Amino acid sequence: MRVLGIETSCDETSVAVLDGEGRVLSNVVSSQMEAHARYGGVVPEVAARAHLENLPAALEAALAKAGTRLEDVELVAATAGPGLIGALLVGLSAGKALAFARGIPVVGVNHLEGHLFSAFLREKGEPTREVRYPFHGLVVSGGHAELVRVEPDRIVPLARTRDDAPGEAFDKIGRRAGLGYPGGPVIDRVAARGRGDRFPFPIGRAGDGSRDFSFSGLKTAMLRELGRRRVDGRPLDPETLDADLVDLMASFQRAIVTSLASRVAEVHGSEGIRALALSGGVAANSELRATLAAWGDSAGVPVFLPERGFTTDNAAMIAFAGLLRFRRHGAEDPSEAQARSRWPLGS
Ligand code: KG4
Ligand code: ZN
Repeated sequence: MRVLGIETSCDETSVAVLDGEGRVLSNVVSSQMEAHARYGGVVPEVAARAHLENLPAALEAALAKAGTRLEDVELVAATAGPGLIGALLVGLSAGKALAFARGIPVVGVNHLEGHLFSAFLREKGEPTREVRYPFHGLVVSGGHAELVRVEPDRIVPLARTRDDAPGEAFDKIGRRAGLGYPGGPVIDRVAARGRGDRFPFPIGRAGDGSRDFSFSGLKTAMLRELGRRRVDGRPLDPETLDADLVDLMASFQRAIVTSLASRVAEVHGSEGIRALALSGGVAANSELRATLAAWGDSAGVPVFLPERGFTTDNAAMIAFAGLLRFRRHGAEDPSEAQARSRWPLGS
């Protein structure tokens, strides 16, 4: 069996081919980063147009790399939401059209569900890691922070961010610090040579007894610190940043990591975590990966870290989540697969 995955929810145009076991035969990702970099963020209309331009070539490349013809594809999985509506429509419509023309089933996939299962994927055509239920998933990206329990037939939300997503906080601080966009990877690099315990920032939480995350207080505190140092967005070279700023970035990253890791530990204390799967763009963060791996070792909980190629948006994870969904529920009526900008996990 061959599964074709299509992802166009944000600024990555991606097409992947998986086999029926979830092995990744190809995963072509065409980034629009450059088109958006000069605006300091993703521009929805620019994204939709770029998807339209990039998708045909990405499709051809994905099929060619997988040594697969369109006629061999038996299932199409396309991201249906959440995301930018114009961008989603490009990939989902293409997926539905392909499925309709070929008379094969199509599944509209929740982008976050794609991330959730991405920790089980392996690069280079290796078999996937075994998915055992229940497991807990932590999805951290530019748009989301979600901690959920994943059962065989439902996803139970446990905590989400009330304001900024962690990746969004990294990006805003990176921009204000003049370190460019996206901020996450460069702050990660800078923080590695700093002292994360130098500036103790408040660990964000919603403050009403719930387990929700909050990162806007941290962001505001950080902006104030930058302002005090007259850092105002003029470009700075990350390699020659002064030691004080390096420690500030390290402390900022430490606060985000601590906030996520402490919530995981808390949930483990109250309901027991059998396995944890980390995912999303921020899952590439070195300190987050190391901290959660160390926690898993000490708590005796297996922690699945996504291979780096599957942390940012990609179609392989969409194909895999679509395949699992198809196995559970079968095909859906193509008219049911509607693009939606909002689609919380578990609904
Ligand atoms: O999952 P993703 O590709 O897009 C969304 O669905 O949001 O995540 C992109 C986010 C960006 O905010 C980026 O700054 C962040 O992931 N990111 C990182 C790192 N690499 C990417 N954040 C922290 N450390 C990293 N190494
Ligand atoms: Zn994403």
